[in-house]
Amino acid sequence: MIERTLVLLKPDAVQRGLMGEIIMRFERAGLKMVGCKLVWADKDFAKLHYAEHVTKAFYPGLEKMITMGPTLALCIEGIEAVGIVRKMVGSTEPKGSPPGTIRGDYAHVSYGHADEKGIGIKNLIHASANITDATREVALWFKNDELHTYKTVHDQHTIE
Ligand code: RTP
Ligand code: MG
Repeated sequence: MIERTLVLLKPDAVQRGLMGEIIMRFERAGLKMVGCKLVWADKDFAKLHYAEHVTKAFYPGLEKMITMGPTLALCIEGIEAVGIVRKMVGSTEPKGSPPGTIRGDYAHVSYGHADEKGIGIKNLIHASANITDATREVALWFKNDELHTYKTVHDQHTIE
């Protein structure tokens, strides 16, 4: 039940100064940050993270976007955290992501616009899609000793 998931506040979120607001949403939901660091991904590292997308037409724009500045990598822990975090993030295209989601509240760009310009879709955030991806991605971005085990008040509230 307790899961860990990888969240990336991509360079567009960092450069827009949205790190605090986005982290606040996860904390407010009672999720726990167990890992946190700024990483400036290079092209090789981007290819490891986005291995499933490397051959796709949008990959060059995606790689340019994810390597354009530092990314804030977070490991978030909580009850069924993988699915909960994906729900809070919203759908891939900000245009179609509903109000109340992170992509819907802080972005509005469309696939049509990104494709016309030949740029990556700047949707602020990445969250692991499932538990298998979460395990692989957390291990890619964090060493074991960069992940922490501690208690929050929410841990008490979930057992009694
Ligand atoms: P993420 O992996 O970043 O959490 O996003 P996601 O699961 O919602 O979307 P995914 O299909 O895995 O795509 C990864 C990232 O690639 C960019 N993208 N651009 N122009 C396009 O058609 C297109 N499609 C995807 C987005 O930045 C997306 O988050
Ligand atoms: Mg994905």
